[in-house]
Amino acid sequence: MAVIQAHEIVVARTEGEIQQCYDVRIAVFHVEQKFPLETEFDDFDPTATHLLLRLTPSLTPVGTIRMNKAPGGYYKLSRLAVLKDYRSFHFGRELVLALHDCAKSDASAAGTTEYLEIVCHSQLPVKGFYDKFGYQPEGAEFDEDGDPHQKMVLRLPL
Ligand SMILES: CC(C)(COP(=O)(O)OP(=O)(O)OC[C@H]1O[C@@H](n2cnc3c(N)ncnc32)[C@H](O)[C@@H]1OP(=O)(O)O)[C@@H](O)C(=O)NCCC(=O)NCCS
Repeated sequence: MAVIQAHEIVVARTEGEIQQCYDVRIAVFHVEQKFPLETEFDDFDPTATHLLLRLTPSLTPVGTIRMNKAPGGYYKLSRLAVLKDYRSFHFGRELVLALHDCAKSDASAAGTTEYLEIVCHSQLPVKGFYDKFGYQPEGAEFDEDGDPHQKMVLRLPL
């Protein structure tokens, strides 16, 4: 049985750490899933909080997730990716939970007291993954970057 390697999740703060998040996304979304590189990086990147999951003590990057605060006050989860060789170790789950913690801290600091809303656009094969955290499908499926997606929304109590 494979052993879960020691790891940590950090907010990517340096240029190098942010680039490591980008490199994981390129490996997963562009090289593996064949999405064009031109659509991988967008206007949300410069203002996003990028979380990086890396092995310790080697600091090898293996996963990432991105959080943006939308003008409507909700939070947007996007670009969740774990390198293929490191899947099924609950790294994806840990990244989502870390993003929830970041969103809660931000919402509390902004004076929110009851709950916050997190929205993601799920690729269809991953809907079951988000479902495990309580994300609910909202509206019809739609095309994003040439691939069908489903809007999923979570109401997260503070
Ligand atoms: C989606 C992804 C991040 C999941 O990461 P992972 O580390 O392999 O997932 P985890 O091990 O944390 O899985 C957590 C739980 O979700 C389940 N799960 C994982 N992928 C799933 C899927 N596609 N559908 C339904 N359930 C899934 C796991 O079985 C596990 O269940 P458990 O808690 O009962 O054991 C990873 O598969 C990935 O990077 N895929 C390619 C990129 C991608 O599709 N990103 C999402 C874009 S919307």
